[in-house]
Amino acid sequence: MRNILIIGIGAGNPEHMTVEAIEALNRADVLFIPDKGEEKAALRALREAICVRFIRTPGYRTVPVAIPQRAEAGSDYRGVVDDWHERIAASYRALFEAELAEGQTGALLVWGDPALYDSTLRIMERVVASGLAIDWQVYPGISSVQVLAARHRIPLNSIGAPILITTGRRLAAGFPADQDSVVVMLDGEQAFAKLDPEGLDIFWGAYLGTPDEILLAGSLAELSTEITRVRAQARARHGWIMDTYMLRRRPA
Ligand SMILES: C[S@@+](CC[C@H](N)C(=O)[O-])C[C@H]1O[C@@H](n2cnc3c(N)ncnc32)[C@H](O)[C@@H]1O
Repeated sequence: MRNILIIGIGAGNPEHMTVEAIEALNRADVLFIPDKGEEKAALRALREAICVRFIRTPGYRTVPVAIPQRAEAGSDYRGVVDDWHERIAASYRALFEAELAEGQTGALLVWGDPALYDSTLRIMERVVASGLAIDWQVYPGISSVQVLAARHRIPLNSIGAPILITTGRRLAAGFPADQDSVVVMLDGEQAFAKLDPEGLDIFWGAYLGTPDEILLAGSLAELSTEITRVRAQARARHGWIMDTYMLRRRPA
């Protein structure tokens, strides 16, 4: 049987690798490196830093995983994602069969934590459902959300209250009336800038965990334009950006 390790590698800082993740990395015969979107440049640098620093035996083998492009979502978002995941699962299966002999172990290095806004686990379920005999385990990583909270020195939830973690696309429909703390990821459109800022604070972070980290926090009314400006400037300078933020209702 082949064995696959899904390893969360943190969201930009090699020092966020857990001891468990390092040990898993050292058990792998082959490292599969997904190559996708905005994570591309950052993942390449982080992966190299992690492999050089933590793999004890030289001569490890890495195999890039080309992630097929997703079709334009249009009105059938779920259908398009479903089809996209099926194609990724097929390419994972083909890679596992081609690159791993029976009894060998492969590792998939996943940005941040594999359970948060990442489809690797759903795709692995499809690979298993396709009938390939594999054993697989998941190793959690430090997510960008945890780094955001640590850098701003804030708890994610108010006392006894829930938090909502959502996407820019969903926030664009408005700040949820029943929430006081909302963490937003995958926001390429700066949905915060279109909200009524009254009574809201923002805790924003870009390139979290990396040497290029940028942090801004304060009243949304005062910072909305500034964050949009800083974000555009940083994006132009680096050629890519990843940012995450929390919006919190100020207590009355
Ligand atoms: C596909 S999701 C992956 C999330 C990842 N699994 C995690 O645990 O952080 C990508 C989104 O995560 C957030 N993100 C990931 N890394 C980040 C970083 N270093 N700084 C700021 N935001 C980051 C951004 O909102 C980005 O659009």
